[in-house]
This record gives sequence, C-alpha cells and structure tokens, in this order.
Amino acid sequence: LQGTMEIKDNVLHIGGVNTLDLVKKYKTPLYVFDEELIRNKCREYIKSFKVKENGNKVAYAGKAFLTKYMCKLVCEEGLCLDVVSGGELYTAYKAGMPMENILFHGNNKTVDEVKLGIELGVGRFVVDNFYELDLIEKFCLENNKTQKIYFRVTPGIDAHTHKYIRTGQIDSKFGFALINGDFYKAVEKVKQYKNIELVGIHAHIGSQIFEIKPFLDEVEIMLKLLKEVNENNDDINLTEVDLGGGIGVYYTEEDKPKTISEFCEAIINKADEVCEELNIKRPTLLIEPGRSLVANAGSTIYTVGSIKEIKNVRTYVSVDGGMTDNIRPSLYQADYECGIVNKINKTGHNHKVTIAGKCCESGDILISDTEIGDINSGDILITTTTGAYGYSMASNYNKIPKNPVVFVQNGEDKLACKRQSYEDLLALEV
Ligand code: LLP
Repeated sequence: LQGTMEIKDNVLHIGGVNTLDLVKKYKTPLYVFDEELIRNKCREYIKSFKVKENGNKVAYAGKAFLTKYMCKLVCEEGLCLDVVSGGELYTAYKAGMPMENILFHGNNKTVDEVKLGIELGVGRFVVDNFYELDLIEKFCLENNKTQKIYFRVTPGIDAHTHKYIRTGQIDSKFGFALINGDFYKAVEKVKQYKNIELVGIHAHIGSQIFEIKPFLDEVEIMLKLLKEVNENNDDINLTEVDLGGGIGVYYTEEDKPKTISEFCEAIINKADEVCEELNIKRPTLLIEPGRSLVANAGSTIYTVGSIKEIKNVRTYVSVDGGMTDNIRPSLYQADYECGIVNKINKTGHNHKVTIAGKCCESGDILISDTEIGDINSGDILITTTTGAYGYSMASNYNKIPKNPVVFVQNGEDKLACKRQSYEDLLALEV
C-alpha cells in the first residue's frame, strides 16, 4: 500500500475514495493519482534540497507524466519544470506556468521548437550540441533577444541501471563529452555568441538508480568543471549546476530505495564539502526528479476478462489494457505488483498467474508469474507504481483509446484528462 491507500470493507481506497466508485464513474482501464502523495514528495524535495534556505531548485521532469493539472500542482508546490519537446512546453504554457521556471531539454530540438522556446521566454535552454547552439544564436540575433543556457555534459559516470535508461556514460547520444574535448570547444564557441549567456552546466546520469555514490561522483565532477571553466574564462561566470534526475523508486519487493531526503541531504552535503575543498562559492544546485515524484502515486485499474488456464503450463489473466497504457514491462522487462481491488484483503488460496494485456502481441504481458488470490472474470485489478512513464509513454497501438487520468484527494476525485473516444482516434484523419 502506497501513500493514502487503505483498505475499507475489503475494498481498496485511494485518497479517501473507494476505487470501485471510480470504476463505476470512469470505467476501466483508468489511471488514478494520489494527489496528497505527490504533494508530500514535492515538499520533501523542496525541504531536503534546501530550496528556500540555499536558493536551490527542484525541476519536475515532465516526461515522467505531464498534464496541465500536474503542471499547476508542481507549480503550486514551488517546483520548476523540465520539458523536452514543443508539446511539453506548450502544455506548461497552457497551464499558465511561468516560463522563467522552465528548463528546455532535448538532444535534437527542432528549429520550430527552438523558436517556440525563445519566443515564449523559457528560463534556460539546456543545450546538447553545436547545431542547437548555432540555432539559438541565429534566432536570438534575428529577433534581438538573449537566452540563458546550460551546457549538457556527458560526465562519464556509468550508473547501474537498464542500458536503455543509462545516459551518463561516454558512449551516449546526449550532451557534450568531456573526454573528447567537445565541451571545451563549445565553451570557446559560446564566448563569441553575443546573444547567449552560458550560466550553468547540466548532467543526467540515468534513471531508477538506487545507489547514492554515482550522484556524489557527479557532484564532484560537475563542481570541479564549474571551477575550471570559471577560472579559465574571464568572460564566463557559471553559477548554476543541474544534476538531472534518476532517483530510484519501489516497484516490487526487490527494490530497496532510499528516501528522497537521504538522497538530497547526501548530495547537498557533498556539494558543500567539495565547494570548501575547491574554495569556490556554492553555486545554485538543481535537481530534476521525474519518477521519484510520481511513480508511487499512480496506479492503473483494469477489469479482468478472459482467464485462460493452460494445464501444467500457465494461467493467463487478461485485462482490458496492457502495453498501450504501460509499455514498461515489454520495453524494459519492468516488474510490477498487483492486487484485486474488490477483494483486496482476501487471502485464501493463492494462484500463480500471468497478467496479460489485450494487444495483439505476445510480448504484451504486464506481470509474469505473480501470486494472486482467487480471481474471476469481472474482478477489478490494480497495478501499482504506474505513475511515471505510463501515461506519458502510452500509445494508440491497435487503435486502443488512451485511459483517462483521475486525481484523488480527501475523498474527492478530479478528472484531469478524459478517456479518448473512437472519434478522438479518428479526429486527425483526413
Ligand atoms: N532529467 C533528464 C535530463 C532526463 O533525461 C530524465 C529522464 C530526468 C531528468 C528524469 O529522470 P527520473 O527522475 O525520472 O529518473 N522511460 C524510462 C525512463 C527514461 C528516463 C529519461 N530521462 C522508464 O520508463 O524507465
């Protein structure tokens, strides 16, 4: 049970709301978000990363899960936002987020995205490559604007996580490598660009990382780099260091995450220590959590349909969603836990089953070989910890409409995003 989840009369409640009532109201499949849990995590970040005390910043990585409602929520909690595309930027803009609080990421921003970012006045571009640097300068010159930027650096840290979500190592499509000198060439280049102000450096070492050590190594590398750049370039004054996201969360019993506070405190202490050693003024530190803010707060609710028992082989319990609303099991072999919402407490006989999705694809398996109580067609199944990279990576494969998104808190439910209709699916076809 995560956050505000509790069991009353054998039924799972989230945010004080009976999940079976949600099913009646919104049907399944459905994403449910525990608003109190997200707000509590935001507050834990703000406090332990010393946002008010030291002026550090926490930017929510919108790629994990972004709707206008989520933008408003993180904004109210005092977070900034990291966006990676024109679409995410536009969502934040329409939600009324102050553009100054936006960091614009991406390893291949298009010309139109660069223009949109500058026109809307995003706070910082996190520049990934020479092409982007040239585009920004050109557009700023033509329009008589200036833009503050960070350089994204590939620091050469190999964090232990799935190879698709590892990003800090040298062989990476992201950022300017330190090792081949590209970063230093970029620094030379930006000095000639009058409409760009380089104010900071950024790195992101990967995602779903449980160890603190790689982050501490990153802090050291980045602070040393900041000192080196500032000392060797009279006309550059780096004052901001962005350490990216990546803190790991609980999905199943195998995961033993540390708390947000433990991570933040270790990072802040390390930064203080290194700054003292290097004898430099403490820069503004930024962190960009995605998963650790929303993963545990989100769940997906399905209805069980076919139950196929293949004697002595396997029992497939199929639900009315699958890889279209959660691609992570098929893409990363990610593991999840599940429960039967309408008889959550019933222990009884446990069965080993495989939870399958409804897509025409053998790989559309949500959970392989999990233990579950007596289960029947029509039961309501919940998978937990689907808040990050679920909705945001959802697809319309098999022309399956996307699930609605509902936030629950204090006994109330709020619809943040409607279910797609068949008409919505065809709306863009000509
Ligand atoms: N900042 C940057 C520059 C990033 O690239 C990412 C994630 C984050 C922050 C947020 O990282 P987090 O705190 O969420 O770990 N789709 C994959 C995860 C991809 C992460 C991409 N970058 C998954 O479902 O596991």
